[in-house]
Amino acid sequence: MSFDEDAADVYDDLARRGDEMETVPFLEQLARDGPALELGIGTGRIALRLAARGIRVDGIDFSSAMVAQLRAKPGGAEIAVTMGNFADVAVPGTYRLIYVVFNTLFNLLTQDEQVRCFENVAAHLTDDGSFVVEAFVPAFLHRLRDGQHVDAEAIEAGEVRLDVLRHDMATQMIEESHVSLSRAGVRLNPVVQRYAWPSELDLMARIARLRLKERWAGWNQELFTSTSSNVVSVFGR
Ligand SMILES: C[S@@+](CC[C@H](N)C(=O)[O-])C[C@H]1O[C@@H](n2cnc3c(N)ncnc32)[C@H](O)[C@@H]1O
Repeated sequence: MSFDEDAADVYDDLARRGDEMETVPFLEQLARDGPALELGIGTGRIALRLAARGIRVDGIDFSSAMVAQLRAKPGGAEIAVTMGNFADVAVPGTYRLIYVVFNTLFNLLTQDEQVRCFENVAAHLTDDGSFVVEAFVPAFLHRLRDGQHVDAEAIEAGEVRLDVLRHDMATQMIEESHVSLSRAGVRLNPVVQRYAWPSELDLMARIARLRLKERWAGWNQELFTSTSSNVVSVFGR
């Protein structure tokens, strides 16, 4: 049910990060004249802004509902999107930049799938190319009471939005739903993720014969420390 039509309808309103202005220049300096490939391109939140700077951006996604949102936006029809599992990276040619942001790598639900993704990315990177992975640092999960939480994301007169999450440390899985309660009814926005620590990402890269080139706590190249909640990793040969 994740990223179905209901989720795609509200994605840009609910999931907007507000970090697009920092993300795009960071990716642009790595892409140089491109081309670039976004894994899990979704509604084009990042890809359209990068393409507007003159870089050819292709994408992969398996949700036709999310890609329909991309297509409906100015410039969305010109982006080449391959429909399928991004772990396959089933596209021709090589890219100077391949990127996967907003925890999307964790939508691959096993370690094997995530390693396979790294290996297939490596096969489609130019020799001087970069693979950028942006995701949360899982430290906060270890502070949850009974491995779960409910967070009031919004409380308004006509609507309450809750984030409901359960964590299984043994499998590194998170089951989560963004729940909206309003007079119109109950709306669920479920997402399941298999998270990885930064050190595990580095090992996946090594398996794929890539190495960590840069690591930051955010798109403005903030220092990555033991208290960072987000991590931007740049891998290359
Ligand atoms: C959290 S959204 C991120 C969308 C966009 N990258 C952004 O930053 O706004 C994750 C996207 O990845 C897609 N996705 C998740 N798992 C996928 C998979 N295994 N293969 C292809 N697409 C996938 C979903 O359909 C969704 O569009």
